[in-house]
Amino acid sequence: MGSIAEIAVLFDLDGVVVNTEGQYTVFWDGQGKKYLNEDNFGAHVKGQTLQQIYDRYFAGADDVQRQITAALDRFEAQMDYGYVAGVEDFLKDLRKNGVKIAIVTSSNAKKMEAVYKAHPDLGAYFDRILTAGDFARSKPDPECFLLGMKLFGTAPENTFVFEDSFHGLQAGMASGATVVGLATTNPREAIGDKAHHVVDDFGGMTFGRLLAMKQKTMAGYISNDTRKVTTHRLIEMKQRGEKISMLTAYDYTMARIVDGAGMDVILVGDSASNVMAGNVTTLPMTLDQMIYHGKSVVRAVTRAMVVVDMPFGSYQGNSKEGLASAIRIMKESHADALKLEGGEEILETVKRILTAGIPLMGHLGLMPQSINKYGTYAVRAKDADEAEKLIRDAHLLEEAGCFAVVLEKIPATLAARVASELTIPVIGIGAGGGVDGQVLVVQDMLGMSQGFSPRFLRRYADLHTVMTEAIGQYIADVKSSGFPNGKEQY
Ligand code: KIV
Repeated sequence: MGSIAEIAVLFDLDGVVVNTEGQYTVFWDGQGKKYLNEDNFGAHVKGQTLQQIYDRYFAGADDVQRQITAALDRFEAQMDYGYVAGVEDFLKDLRKNGVKIAIVTSSNAKKMEAVYKAHPDLGAYFDRILTAGDFARSKPDPECFLLGMKLFGTAPENTFVFEDSFHGLQAGMASGATVVGLATTNPREAIGDKAHHVVDDFGGMTFGRLLAMKQKTMAGYISNDTRKVTTHRLIEMKQRGEKISMLTAYDYTMARIVDGAGMDVILVGDSASNVMAGNVTTLPMTLDQMIYHGKSVVRAVTRAMVVVDMPFGSYQGNSKEGLASAIRIMKESHADALKLEGGEEILETVKRILTAGIPLMGHLGLMPQSINKYGTYAVRAKDADEAEKLIRDAHLLEEAGCFAVVLEKIPATLAARVASELTIPVIGIGAGGGVDGQVLVVQDMLGMSQGFSPRFLRRYADLHTVMTEAIGQYIADVKSSGFPNGKEQY
């Protein structure tokens, strides 16, 4: 992927930016019936230019062409040009990120007048608006999208096309761009195999999500489903063998990045105690602090399920206290679910919280809130008794109604056995690959933290070095009066 300045997004107009495709279908159905006595004519001509329709269906019938043109002008002048849901927010986000944006449409200049009348602000969202007069061959020929790329100087691998019609999708795919199909005009099933990704509308769509989609095109693994992740959908993922991705986040900025990348679950872990506050254990974390972190993350997230940890001391006392703590976190943070540590010993609390309709994720194996009891962060449940208890606890949590269980730092064979016995998802951290999903602490996997290198931790980046270099450069620039320069001041 190139730099942000090299990325372009090309939008078809009807059915993509404005919600008009259904109206055109009605119009062309009427013309087909009137002049050709044909049903479903609208579906046949979708995505074609007026000239193509005339050449193909009304060649030589000059009078009919004139009548249709006049009827179409009248129709388009009074059509409803409401925006497709979420498109304005998405366009603003693309702008903010310096992306080149164009409309590439088969619409003619007259029709565009009606669109501008309905949306005088349209031009502000786009760098270019290419219409039928700008290219010789219409979709499904890729000429129009290739022209957009040429004007912006972007390569197909750094260009995204948003389309809804069959011809438009075909043109997008032929252009070599990453194609996102909108199920506004045709159902998902009909366009699923004609685009790299399919979305219902632009709800939850961000620049970050677009980049994640691109990665999915390459890797084939990140979900293109922008709907909010629910407990039900996690269980469905387990049933179809799709692994669940989960990372921690404790603040707004990080949560936006993690959610935008396509994460299934974000855990506002009480590991915030270590990572954010610098404590040695998770024990000092308070309810108020967890609520603060939870709120910050919830504000950033549109798709991922947000699970907040119940902190030490907020539920171990008795089940009434546990319920009161759970209600406070849910009410004040707006989280989707909670997580707590323990099995049989906290079962009454688990049941009471579940009875209140609060989804719960269990946590077994190494339970950091009990670190003073264990005295070590070594692998848990290596002996038969502890393994048997863990299996029993996992079943008790499932029977009580928990929607998932985290297993931390236990032998891989034991974790795989638990995952195969439970019908709810089992998410592992240091529990091997035989479980239904994985969770890591985001600062650890990004290589921001140093000196913590358990065997299970894979570092996907070395942000410690990247950040140290960037900050060092800033210090040098300030000291040498290299920052700010003439352009960086008012
Ligand atoms: O608090 C946390 O980050 C956790 C994960 C390690 C599962 O509980």
